[in-house]
Amino acid sequence: MNDATNRNDWHQTDDLHAPRGKGDPFAAAIRATRMPMLITDPNQPDNPIVFANEAFFKLTGYSHCEVIGKNCRFLQGPQTNFNDVAKIRDAVQNREDIAVDLLNYRKDGSSFWNALYMSPVIDESGKLLYFFASQLDVTERKQAEQEIFQQKTSFEVAVRARTKELERALESKNTLIHEVDHRVKNNLQIVASLILMQSRNVKDEAARDTLRSVLGRIEALSAVHKLLYQSNDLPLLNVAHLVRDLVTNLMASSARENIAVSFDLDDIEVPAEKASPIALLINELVTNALKHAFEPEQPGKIYVRVKDGDGKVIVEVADDGKGFEGKGSTASFGMKLIESLGQQLRTRAQWVPTKPGTLVRLSVPASQIS
Ligand SMILES: Nc1ncnc2c1ncn2[C@@H]1O[C@H](COP(=O)(O)OP(=O)(O)O)[C@@H](O)[C@H]1O
Ligand SMILES: [Mg+2]
Repeated sequence: MNDATNRNDWHQTDDLHAPRGKGDPFAAAIRATRMPMLITDPNQPDNPIVFANEAFFKLTGYSHCEVIGKNCRFLQGPQTNFNDVAKIRDAVQNREDIAVDLLNYRKDGSSFWNALYMSPVIDESGKLLYFFASQLDVTERKQAEQEIFQQKTSFEVAVRARTKELERALESKNTLIHEVDHRVKNNLQIVASLILMQSRNVKDEAARDTLRSVLGRIEALSAVHKLLYQSNDLPLLNVAHLVRDLVTNLMASSARENIAVSFDLDDIEVPAEKASPIALLINELVTNALKHAFEPEQPGKIYVRVKDGDGKVIVEVADDGKGFEGKGSTASFGMKLIESLGQQLRTRAQWVPTKPGTLVRLSVPASQIS
């Protein structure tokens, strides 16, 4: 043991061991505080405890003579985290302070969570004199933390399981919807080929024309369902793909080789239920351009645009043909259809003055298209 009387340190004086309230006021305060505290001497072999207060004895169940002269490791036990112990060892070696929650054991073998704070005491010349440590029993907080952690973990496991279930349900729902779209598309194609066959038997030119335009509209719907059953992102449909497919088919079946089409399409997704009115509109407008804008052998150009325009989807079909301003023609079925499809999309087709040709613009509000 060190010769306390020869040392000029407050906590090693006899006053330190004197009853509460006597001697050095700091020593008295440390003795009396309810926070467990101790001091170790790193200048002695194995850094023993040289002072511990009442609160420490009360917390650990050890008595004065069982503690003084011993290294703090007697507080550790089987469940103590040795990484944390290593941190303390490093802090001692590096003369640093450290705060760590450590599982410690009382004399009776029961454990408690110790919020340990330890700091070196260094004199003016830089010599390391002591380590000062305060302890706090934070078992309740630790248990609450562990409980929260366990609850969080089991909650996460439950969420993961439920997510898997929902993903599986969504997958089978998607498969089902794809299947339905596939069948709808097949049936529309059957209807289309029936109409085509029938139109070949119709002698009356006007009736044949009507059947052909019905056929065009059915094919437009069939193009929507074809894309829907191929789509991976089910509730949405890419308008650019839809419009390109649709117009390319229309151009091919028109057999007007000297009419070229030019696309300007932004990648925009629309809800699946909006795809049909858009497809039917494009079909009407492009069919009109093919049918009415140019003389039979006259070469020409058709422009199809789908643009993302500040909260709106701008759909435009234009041609450089003879021109048409859309006026006075609401009596015809095509115009009525264009108007009612516009209403479905909460908009109205506009015939924009242009030269040469015709330009029809629809500005579909974003609230209707996401
Ligand atoms: N792009 C266009 N260029 C020239 N005329 C057009 C154009 N679009 C429509 N029209 C005119 O508007 C009329 C009405 O069109 P619509 O209602 O679609 O009837 P349909 O196509 O059955 O004739 C057409 O007959 C045609 O005279
Ligand atoms: Mg028409």
